[in-house]
Amino acid sequence: MPDLFSPYTLKGVTLRNRIVMSPMTMYRSRDGLMNDFHVMLLGSRAAGGFGLVFPEQLAITPDGRTSVHCGGIYDDAQIDGLRRVTSIIKDMGAVPAIQLGHTGRKGSEARPWEGGAQIPPDHPDGWQVVGPSAIAYGAKSPFPVHALTREEIKEIHRAYAAAARRAADAGFEWLEMHFAHGYLGASFFSPLANQRTDEYGGSLENRVRFHLEALDVVRAVWPERFPLSMRLGCDDLHEEGVQFEDAMVAIGLMKAHGLDFADLSLGLNTPNLQTRPFNEPAFMVERAARVRREIGLPVGVSWNLGVPAAADRMIREEQIDLVLLGRPALSNPHWPVWAARELGVPDPFALVPEDWGWWLRNFRGHDESIGWPAPAIGGE
Ligand SMILES: Cc1cc2nc3c(=O)[nH]c(=O)nc-3n(C[C@H](O)[C@H](O)[C@H](O)COP(=O)(O)O)c2cc1C
Repeated sequence: MPDLFSPYTLKGVTLRNRIVMSPMTMYRSRDGLMNDFHVMLLGSRAAGGFGLVFPEQLAITPDGRTSVHCGGIYDDAQIDGLRRVTSIIKDMGAVPAIQLGHTGRKGSEARPWEGGAQIPPDHPDGWQVVGPSAIAYGAKSPFPVHALTREEIKEIHRAYAAAARRAADAGFEWLEMHFAHGYLGASFFSPLANQRTDEYGGSLENRVRFHLEALDVVRAVWPERFPLSMRLGCDDLHEEGVQFEDAMVAIGLMKAHGLDFADLSLGLNTPNLQTRPFNEPAFMVERAARVRREIGLPVGVSWNLGVPAAADRMIREEQIDLVLLGRPALSNPHWPVWAARELGVPDPFALVPEDWGWWLRNFRGHDESIGWPAPAIGGE
């Protein structure tokens, strides 16, 4: 029976454990470039014991970013910075993963702590946002949406392929397509955002065409030995939006188009959610377990899995294959070491780089002051 610390192999890639740093947009790029900040952020999580490490969503086109401060992979000039990131992640014993994204009608935003509102297209930091149909997201993203033409959709698919080629060149070994969170892939899938009358809209098979074509062009250039995954907005939490049963059909189709792994998340295609599960522990796991069982694809999820015993149980029960951590990875770079200690795994310091581990095992002092991360609430 696997546990949180069992190695995990998919295709030609082996992770040292089941713990993944989930992609998180940091708003610290210029011209879409990775810099010292990203090397620090991602290198420290790899040194802290994570098995798979994602930088933030990287945009396949400049207008696919969330803001002008977000990272991209739309230009060869971005490869060097990305290579610095993959190199430190590998040096620290983890596998570097990339999430390719296009924010669609939710792009052109201010930074969240500056209000996060959409910036109008005529502002120097804004642009014309695009989507499957001319329907604005609403709330903080109110500006008119340009409905993509068929030729523009083809261009986006070409941008996906070019980005995947750059990703392999930069040293990434796992590629995830971002089809969730109200971004372009999510909006093509959702009747709330997609009211097209051509072959990209209407029936479920049409609403998933954008994704299947994207997977096809990426699979054609992404090395076969490396996993291809996607994060799908599998539920819009709205009666007129994506229902989980739609996602089951779509994921089956994606599997036939070369998908190796499914990362399930929310659609977030409307600000008017009819249910709000955000306080519930592990609320995506049940859906993922169904995909694993009924479609036969390995799965991972994020959302409220930061309690080590809960994360470990989901793996032991074989409900999910990988645990993705967003906020816990931000708050504790050594979450895996802490979790290993909480779960009584022998030698938690085996997770840190060998030289640090040597010092921590051999140069013992006062055990209480060795700098262990804080115990869990209710723990010792
Ligand atoms: C600061 C921040 C930025 C995020 N950016 C992204 C992103 O770029 N791509 C993505 O798919 N999810 C993004 N997310 C969502 C996380 O990857 C994760 O799915 C979510 O936080 C739930 O997991 P958690 O409960 O472990 O935090 C972001 C979350 C946070 C907190």
